[in-house]
Amino acid sequence: MSEEFDAVDVIATKRDGHELSTEAISWVIDAYTREMVAEEQMSALAMAILLNGMNRRETADWTAAMIASGERLDFTGLSRPTADKHSTGGVGDKITLPLAPLVAACGVAVPMLSGRGLGHTGGTLDKLEAIPGWQADLSTEAMRSQLEEVGAVVCAAGSGLAPADKRLYALRDVTGTVQAIPLIASSIMSKKIAEGTGTLVLDVKVGTGAFMKDLGSARELAELMVGLGQDAGVSTTALLTDMEVPLGRSAGNGLEVAESLEVLAGGGPDDVVELTVALAREMLAGAGEQYADIDPTEVLADGRAMDAWRRMIAAQGGDPDADLPAARESHEITASHGGVLASLDAFAVGVAAWRLGAGRSRKEEEVQPAAGVTIHAKPGDALRAGQPVLTLHTDTPDRIERAMAALDGAWEIDSSGSARDHPREVILDRVAEP
Ligand code: URA
Repeated sequence: MSEEFDAVDVIATKRDGHELSTEAISWVIDAYTREMVAEEQMSALAMAILLNGMNRRETADWTAAMIASGERLDFTGLSRPTADKHSTGGVGDKITLPLAPLVAACGVAVPMLSGRGLGHTGGTLDKLEAIPGWQADLSTEAMRSQLEEVGAVVCAAGSGLAPADKRLYALRDVTGTVQAIPLIASSIMSKKIAEGTGTLVLDVKVGTGAFMKDLGSARELAELMVGLGQDAGVSTTALLTDMEVPLGRSAGNGLEVAESLEVLAGGGPDDVVELTVALAREMLAGAGEQYADIDPTEVLADGRAMDAWRRMIAAQGGDPDADLPAARESHEITASHGGVLASLDAFAVGVAAWRLGAGRSRKEEEVQPAAGVTIHAKPGDALRAGQPVLTLHTDTPDRIERAMAALDGAWEIDSSGSARDHPREVILDRVAEP
């Protein structure tokens, strides 16, 4: 790599609203990875990008440079095609848990590199770690043989994958620059392309509990990511899905595993089932014509998805028959008056679950596997005065007061409304073209 660039010039170019060349982007990402560009310089560049944007070509170059900063997995030699799903993160979003074994049971291999929760959104690895014995860390070889034998792997991304993103994401987190759409798109897509999946379905969340608060910005992010994926030869589509309200009826690690087991047993909340099935259909369609006609609802109903789950958990040391942990304390919150639940704020429920111990504020913190919130009523449900709306669970009772504070004003009961006045769509739109 030639050293013909200077970090200050690259920052000034973007500060003044100009395009960064392919070479400048490739240089700055490589130099940052090698610690030749200082954190304060990358901070300034990230802020200039947040303020002045990057066009599609710059974002594609930025993504390619982040992929090139580390290793790239390759699953092309497997006996079946690969498909993955990525969610931009939400509250109660346990979809990966039923989805990975469901798609595996349909004959498509699912290599999912997942993360841990930070802030109010949960992380898939934290959820699976609520299962006694389950291990998140796998070597690439172990991942490949599990994909061949079981068909699905959910594990932690090794440190070799897009290391530039790891450093940059941590920097963005503390410099107020997470929200830049080109940086979010390149961060997600660099990891997904480096992971080596053949098909990718993006679940772009919209609403109070999501990064993207409105449909317009979610669509912009989805179109950009679909374009980056397709340009890299990955068959990529996106669903825009609701995150005004938490998904399903639980938020918290062990609670969400329990709810996923209901879905795998052929039951579970309607919104979780609808989204799981819709994402499975996208993954199957992307994997090839011979998979496109498989009906995932049948595979859930007849127990094949549950069988794949049991194999997937056992392959990573987990005991699929073990009891899930129960919290030491629980506290019920009831309806003050009767009517129809008109709204339930996803962000507030996410913050409450986090404060109860389901999430962490710093990377090194431990989460409580049993902490979280059970959701008894969703918008559209009728409630009588005194009926439970939420139950809070934690091992540390002194956390309950702060969780209650997060929930102050988090829902509305419409005393004159009828259930039909408050319908909510889960899937808001589909994006298949950049
Ligand atoms: N998830 C990521 O991996 N990166 C982002 O920038 C935002 C969400």
